[in-house]
Amino acid sequence: MADWLLSTDPARLDLDRIHGWLSTAYWSPGVRREIVERAFANSLAIGAYAPDGEQLAVARVVTDRATFAWLCDVFVAPHARGQGIARAMVNSLVADPELTTLRRWMLGTRDAHGVYAACGFAPVDPRIFMDHKPDPARWSNQG
Ligand SMILES: CC(C)(COP(=O)(O)OP(=O)(O)OC[C@H]1O[C@@H](n2cnc3c(N)ncnc32)[C@H](O)[C@@H]1OP(=O)(O)O)[C@@H](O)C(=O)NCCC(=O)NCCS
Repeated sequence: MADWLLSTDPARLDLDRIHGWLSTAYWSPGVRREIVERAFANSLAIGAYAPDGEQLAVARVVTDRATFAWLCDVFVAPHARGQGIARAMVNSLVADPELTTLRRWMLGTRDAHGVYAACGFAPVDPRIFMDHKPDPARWSNQG
């Protein structure tokens, strides 16, 4: 049996630990603590927790809870990787009862395509999608 459980209870989120992870992640280097707090306060997040309550992993969904969701900030603590935690979090979010009417889920990943493909995600059509990346100085201590 897995030695961890999943929860979407925002009260369980260890924001100090999450900020530590995200400030070193390749997509949000140096992200400021208050930005992480605001992002999680306005999102649906899931965590994986050890029996003693230690946060082992997190994933966040930015969504209107009706039509669209952006999956991001998927992070598993190094010592907890390779046990299926990332995929379990994503599968749980995709099946969330609040998100059953969505027309599209999206995410960006540099190298973890293998985590998401089995959860229903596929590469996008580059002729259709665009993005815009504001100056990192707006959100990062390293900007
Ligand atoms: C990527 C990450 C989230 C994977 O977490 P994990 O809990 O170890 O992943 P899982 O055990 O659920 O792996 C599920 C599947 O994805 C595969 N996988 C895991 N990491 C992968 C990676 N980086 N690239 C490609 N496939 C990967 C696994 O081999 C497994 O495949 P299988 O079912 O065929 O055996 C974790 O390594 C991590 O936090 N890395 C640093 C942050 C990061 O890169 N996050 C993802 C941003 S999109």
